[in-house]
Amino acid sequence: MAYEWEKGFTIDFDKNTGMSKTAKSTKRLLSQMKNMYADAAAEAELIKNGDPLVYEFYELGAPEYAGDLAAGTSIVYPGKVGDEYFMTKGHFHTILETAETYYTLSGEGYMLMENPEGDWQAAKLEPGKMVYVPKRYAHRSINTGTTPLVTFFTFRGDAGHDYGTIEEKGYRKLIVEKDGKPEVIDNPKWK
Ligand code: NI
Repeated sequence: MAYEWEKGFTIDFDKNTGMSKTAKSTKRLLSQMKNMYADAAAEAELIKNGDPLVYEFYELGAPEYAGDLAAGTSIVYPGKVGDEYFMTKGHFHTILETAETYYTLSGEGYMLMENPEGDWQAAKLEPGKMVYVPKRYAHRSINTGTTPLVTFFTFRGDAGHDYGTIEEKGYRKLIVEKDGKPEVIDNPKWK
């Protein structure tokens, strides 16, 4: 459907599932996240046995000008690759100096952030709370729970997505399950 950007418009998002009846989501299967998980054997096995849907998001194609806002929902499904929780690819913004907010609608997890200088932080994602991702920080949401992790995001319309840096270098840190709990560890594959 076409949105009337100049006039304003209304769009539906379910407040628990994040799903929209009118917008269309972009889906990411595990096979579309090649080499992003530390355990390559577990990744290959899962892809062979049905290639699970790891996450999907609603992106509305807002005009890409500084005065516009892009917004939508992200849904990360529960699951693990080896002991590493299902997560989004993660990205920097092409315009590095742009921030983003993520309000959690349901589920639980972490927003893992790191900047080019190597500073990082893991902020808890929980319903009713908003995480502010500062400018210059790559961001990835990670589902450490047993139900879908659903967030609502907003960022500057012209920010753009740089997925390539993370695809090449990976993240400095990973979140894995250890003794039944999430734990932040160094990424052995980080370049
Ligand atoms: Ni972003």
